[in-house]
Amino acid sequence: MLQEKIKLINKDFSFEIKSIKDAKQLDDLRVKYFSKNGLVPSLFALLKEATSKEKPLLGKILNEFRTDLQNQFDNVNSQLNDIKNTNLNKLDLTLPGVISNIGSKHILTQTLDEIKFIFKGMGFSVHEGPELESDYNNFEALNFAQDHPARDMQDTFFVSDDFVLRTHTSPVQIRLMKKQKPPVRAIMPGRVYRNEAVSSRSYCMFHQVEGLYVDTDVTFAELKGTLASFAKQFYGDDLKFRFRPSFFPFTEPSAEMDITCFICKGDGCKICKQSGWLEILGCGMVDPNVFDNVGYDNEKYTGYAFGMGIERIAMLKFGITDIRVFFENDYRFLKQF
Ligand code: PHE
Repeated sequence: MLQEKIKLINKDFSFEIKSIKDAKQLDDLRVKYFSKNGLVPSLFALLKEATSKEKPLLGKILNEFRTDLQNQFDNVNSQLNDIKNTNLNKLDLTLPGVISNIGSKHILTQTLDEIKFIFKGMGFSVHEGPELESDYNNFEALNFAQDHPARDMQDTFFVSDDFVLRTHTSPVQIRLMKKQKPPVRAIMPGRVYRNEAVSSRSYCMFHQVEGLYVDTDVTFAELKGTLASFAKQFYGDDLKFRFRPSFFPFTEPSAEMDITCFICKGDGCKICKQSGWLEILGCGMVDPNVFDNVGYDNEKYTGYAFGMGIERIAMLKFGITDIRVFFENDYRFLKQF
């Protein structure tokens, strides 16, 4: 009787244990066979009904049977644990995370953004003009006469007899004044081109920001105040600067603004040619002839203009000594900003 039951249970158990796929199924099996009211303990209960003669043998058979099932169960259990562990081991939790490099704006864009921010704060709007410009806007309207030697100040890329790659952003002044009546208060950033030998100090293409303010009673003192305020906001409050007389055909009087050399702090070195000063921009009061050329009443209006090179401004701020690095896209340079 008992032995037959053992056979049947053994058959079922062997069948079921083979189809176990996960811990849940294995636990169901455990409950069915090994728990307090499970099939195996119920066999032991039957032992009570055996005669005292049969008992030792049946007891031995039952014990062996139970051990056998328990071993099979333990085997499957440890196989499932192995699978679980190897899956876990595939994940190396000590590996460093994946770091993605976040790009940044080019240093020239960052510099221009800062220049725009400062001048917008002083009431300037932002305008742009084309890089391909008429000879008239680039030179003539700006008071460079056809045979004026000042045309040689800037080596020009001529595209045709009448068109040039603009050599400065000053022609955008002309375009703006032709479009808009005073008051005008704007900055005009953009690319400019010069037919110069490429070196650490000059490149055939660079960027400028032009500034123009026209209204009644605009004075040179306002020009100085505005540029001083810009330079201090851009370079820091302790900046030293000076205005030096200069010449441009489209401004009169004209000046250049210098700041203390960033390398030698004014003592004199190779970069500043021993002067202790570095030029950062050209400026002046708009020449009455220019007002004439755009149809502004030069008896009624005065104005100032200025122009600065963005590369130069950035080189002085960050201590960059070769203009070519702005255009080489060397990651080692770019990632520093
Ligand atoms: N256009 C001049 C240059 O490129 C700079 C300048 C602009 C000077 C406006 C005076 C007024 O050198």
